[in-house]
Amino acid sequence: MIDNIPGNSFGENISMGDEANRVKTGIEGFDDICGGGMLRDRTYLVSGNSGAGKTNFAIQFIYNGIVKYNENGLIVATEEKPEHIRENVATFGWDLEALEDEGKLAIIDASSTKIGIPSQEKFVDVRPFDMRSMIDQIITAQEETNAKRALIDSSTALGFQIQDPPKIRVELLKLSATLEILGLTSMMTCETLYENEVSRFGVENFVTEGTIMLNYHRQDNVRSRSIEVYKMRGSDHSKKLHPYDITSEGIVIHPNEEVYML
Ligand SMILES: Nc1ncnc2c1ncn2[C@@H]1O[C@H](COP(=O)(O)OP(=O)(O)OP(=O)(O)O)[C@@H](O)[C@H]1O
Ligand SMILES: [Mg+2]
Repeated sequence: MIDNIPGNSFGENISMGDEANRVKTGIEGFDDICGGGMLRDRTYLVSGNSGAGKTNFAIQFIYNGIVKYNENGLIVATEEKPEHIRENVATFGWDLEALEDEGKLAIIDASSTKIGIPSQEKFVDVRPFDMRSMIDQIITAQEETNAKRALIDSSTALGFQIQDPPKIRVELLKLSATLEILGLTSMMTCETLYENEVSRFGVENFVTEGTIMLNYHRQDNVRSRSIEVYKMRGSDHSKKLHPYDITSEGIVIHPNEEVYML
């Protein structure tokens, strides 16, 4: 069914596409600016500068998947310790540990052993960085949880392990292709340094089906946040920058408002 939002206040008719194939993020305002949700089994890059809210945004997609849409999830933590992730998002009222105990969520610790710290986690990628080993962990976690959504946080940490951009491109393509074969709709976060920078190594956005840019920018004495659907293969989407807030309940996007950058 093709459905339009006629005359919405961001002045564009966003085709809602085939609703059945859309994976709703449930993030307030986001599904409205990307044609009704993400396309099933595809991988999206969530890029932005430090503190923009990439991790929170992507975990909200995983958390909502479980509690609102009955789609289990898995998270690969390549840098932040899983216990910190659990603690940080508990401030939004999201109890990840309870979901793990119910077998609905798996968090793979892909950082501790690489920096020589022991891990108490159930899912640990123990070998020195190797994409095959990480993919094996993802397959195990997906089999145990029957996950439909995945988060790789972050692709940048993987890139630094691999170092060479052409190799990063091939390895991330392997990863996104595997996520697709496993039937996972996924987000990969990407840390950028400069405003308007789409990806860190200049290749990540080419191996993902879409790119969402989060921007935390300073104007005069105050910082504000904006989100842009930069690319979404196979879908219409808003071409504007929309403001968003990080509230006590998570990310809230304002689809009917625009941000003007100087
Ligand atoms: N409970 C909360 N209420 C409001 N804002 C919060 C809350 N918790 C965190 N934040 C905001 O979220 C920001 C961190 O978001 P997040 O960790 O998702 O950023 P990130 O883009 O992943 O950063 P990095 O690149 O460093 O990993 C904090 O700096 C803070 O501004
Ligand atoms: Mg982060």
